[in-house]
Amino acid sequence: MEANKMSKNPITKILGIKYPLIQAPLNWLTDAKFVAAVSNAGGLGTFGPNAGKTSPEQDSMKTLTEEIKRAQQLTDKPFAVNLMVSSSDDFIYPNQVFETALAAGVRTFVLSGFLNTELIKKVKKSGSKLIVREMNSTVSGAKEAEKLGADVIVATGYDEGGVIPTTGFGTFTTVPRIVDAVSIPVIAAGGVTDVRGVRAAFALGAQGVYVGTRLIVTNENRTAQITKEKIVDSGVNDILLVAPNQRSIKNAAADKWAAEFDDGDHETFAATRKAGGVRPAMLDGKINDGVISFDVGIDNIHEIKSVWEVVDEMMADFK
Ligand SMILES: Cc1cc2nc3c(=O)[nH]c(=O)nc-3n(C[C@H](O)[C@H](O)[C@H](O)COP(=O)(O)O)c2cc1C
Repeated sequence: MEANKMSKNPITKILGIKYPLIQAPLNWLTDAKFVAAVSNAGGLGTFGPNAGKTSPEQDSMKTLTEEIKRAQQLTDKPFAVNLMVSSSDDFIYPNQVFETALAAGVRTFVLSGFLNTELIKKVKKSGSKLIVREMNSTVSGAKEAEKLGADVIVATGYDEGGVIPTTGFGTFTTVPRIVDAVSIPVIAAGGVTDVRGVRAAFALGAQGVYVGTRLIVTNENRTAQITKEKIVDSGVNDILLVAPNQRSIKNAAADKWAAEFDDGDHETFAATRKAGGVRPAMLDGKINDGVISFDVGIDNIHEIKSVWEVVDEMMADFK
């Protein structure tokens, strides 16, 4: 694929990385070892919320600073920090994360969730690179983010893992819509779990990929071994919708929430959060106690591999 040659790829140029592959932020499931492994493999590693923490009681900012310092020792390549904005007027927490990471030397940020004009302007004023991902990708939001100075936009389809877009539009629908709306480069998120997904994303006009799910099932990710094995043994038919915006691989907790959701209970998302979200089952390995959040590309994941192998295989056309 001539068009994919690195010398012509705007994402690698803008972000100063080897391959146009961005590791998506993963709540509770990132730490210095994992983030540095992605960056050393040629992608962009990203710290998500609760990076490096093992319990909710730990101080997020102190742990983030320590993890950033560790990552700086493990790699000389760029990596990013996620600014998770949970409503349009949410500023205090993501701003605190921004100030903390900036002070530690980070100059690349992934703002996700809702657009916050003040924060976007502040990030850009610091001279940092900014990737913007709306929770529900919209044409108006992408245009707004471009106007405010975002460097890269993420277009996310319903196929993704994590908190899924309630619009329900798949990756094949969402990526070209956003590509056609803006002049800055777009990266595709949602169900990209092997090289075929990467090729499809580029065929739709994306110039990079944003990969969460596939990178969870790697040696370097801190997800519990038992959970990684359960994921490898599961397929798309083992995934349940437990809330309008949340899937989980079947387990005792997911079966219960899915049944309640089926019965018309729309508070099940709050119930998953009250139970600790992805932390019990994914980080702590309490396999039946919470959400095992995953995308619908799960059938392409057959093995726990190293981060390097995953990135190398997905980026086969960029060598
Ligand atoms: C376990 C898990 C946790 C996630 N946590 C976050 C998060 O804290 N912040 C965020 O912006 N996105 C989060 N996401 C979404 C990812 O960043 C990304 O959008 C998604 O994983 C990309 O699609 P994929 O999983 O199909 O590769 C999470 C996804 C998963 C699977």
